[in-house]
Amino acid sequence: MTGTATEPEHGSSPDDTAEVAFTVNGEAVRLVLDTRESLLDVLRERLGLTGAKKGCDHGQCGACTVHADGRRVLACLTLAVQARGRAVATVEGLAAPDGAPHPLQQAFIDHDALQCGYCTPGQIMSALACVAEGHAGDDEEIREYLSGNLCRCGAYPGIVAAVRDYARTTEG
Ligand code: FES
Ligand code: FES
Repeated sequence: MTGTATEPEHGSSPDDTAEVAFTVNGEAVRLVLDTRESLLDVLRERLGLTGAKKGCDHGQCGACTVHADGRRVLACLTLAVQARGRAVATVEGLAAPDGAPHPLQQAFIDHDALQCGYCTPGQIMSALACVAEGHAGDDEEIREYLSGNLCRCGAYPGIVAAVRDYARTTEG
């Protein structure tokens, strides 16, 4: 049978790559990406930034939380091409140049806000945004706005205490 179908033959595929430029922790990055790659995979596997963790890879645990233009995003649900032109920040960019921890990182240490530490980078990136958004007014609000970040070790009391103390230092 003859026809006029214009669909690609089975097995053929369009070019699935794209060149994408963005910044990560202030450093310019330019990569040719598979358009299906997640931002989390690119950060971890291409750029060696393994701070953001792959917990569920389905947007349910918060372990992969990073910032894009100052807003928290789940890197496992963000296509890397969506980072085009944006400023991405990860936990690796928080410490001072001399290695001193960020005040929120120090608060986590002071309050024993971790056990295995797997969720911690995501907790910290989420908490930074939570405080910047003005959603750390009291413990209940902190719990609510960090509710997308799960901790299998149950370190929640320390996490809330750390965020509360850090939020106080940013007031006024
Ligand atoms: Fe992204 Fe769990 S790894 S939300
Ligand atoms: Fe282990 Fe949170 S410290 S999952």
